Amino acid sequence: MVAIDGPAGAGKSTIARRLAERLGFTYIDTGAMYRAVAWWALRQNLDPGDMHRMEQLAMAAEITLAPGRIQLNGEDVTAEIREPEVSSGASKVAVIPGVRRAMVAKQRAMGERSSVVMEGRDIGTVVFPHAEVKIFLDAQPNERVRRRFEEGRAKGESISEEELATQIAERDRRDSTRAEAPLTQAPDAVYLDSTGLSIDEVEEAILRIVRARVTNGKEFH
Ligand code: DC
Repeated sequence: MVAIDGPAGAGKSTIARRLAERLGFTYIDTGAMYRAVAWWALRQNLDPGDMHRMEQLAMAAEITLAPGRIQLNGEDVTAEIREPEVSSGASKVAVIPGVRRAMVAKQRAMGERSSVVMEGRDIGTVVFPHAEVKIFLDAQPNERVRRRFEEGRAKGESISEEELATQIAERDRRDSTRAEAPLTQAPDAVYLDSTGLSIDEVEEAILRIVRARVTNGKEFH
C-alpha cells in the first residue's frame, strides 16, 4: 500500500498512476471521488453547503474507478469532473464530515480488495494510517499553478494563469484549514518536493523508498 498526499498540482495523479503500473498495483484517485459527488450535486442544483443532503448524496453515490475512467451510478463522468466549478465544488463538499465518512469507507474497501497506490489529501493520516509507504508530495505554488495551466491549455481551456492561481490558492486554503481531516503531512511520511524534478526523477525517488521498505523485511502489498 502506497499512500500519496499533497496539494493540488504537486504531481500526485501522474506519479501515482505510473507507480501503480510499475508495481502492478491498482491506482486510486480519491479526489475524483469527491469530484463525482460535487458534480452530482451541481447537476441537481443542490447547495454544496447543505451538509445533510450532501451526506445522503455521498452515501448513495456508486463510484466505480477503472483505469483512466470514473463512473458515477453507471454514468461515465471522467471529463465532467475536471471542470473548474467541480474542482471548487469538490473542495467544498470535502469539508463535510458525513461526506468524508462515506468516501473513506469506500476507499478502505477498495484498499482491502487489492494492493493500491492511493492518492489524495488524508490517505496517510486518516484513510490508511498504517500504509507501508507514505509520501507527502509537494511543489512550490508557482510551479503547481504552471503545471495546471499547461495541463488546461493542452485541453483547450481558456482560463488565465492569474485566475487559476487564485482558484488553486483558495482550494488549498480550504483543504488545509478544514476541521475534518485537513491536508497535512503524516509524521511518518516522506516529504518530497517535486519542483525542478522530472516525472522520472520523482518516480525513481519514490521507487527507492518502496524498495527500501521491501528489503527491510516489511510485508508489502
Ligand atoms: O485531488 P483533486 O484536486 O482532484 O481533489 C479535489 C478536491 O477533493 C480537493 O480540493 C480536496 C478534496 N479531497 C479531499 O478532501 N480528500 C482527498 N483524499 C482527496 C481530495
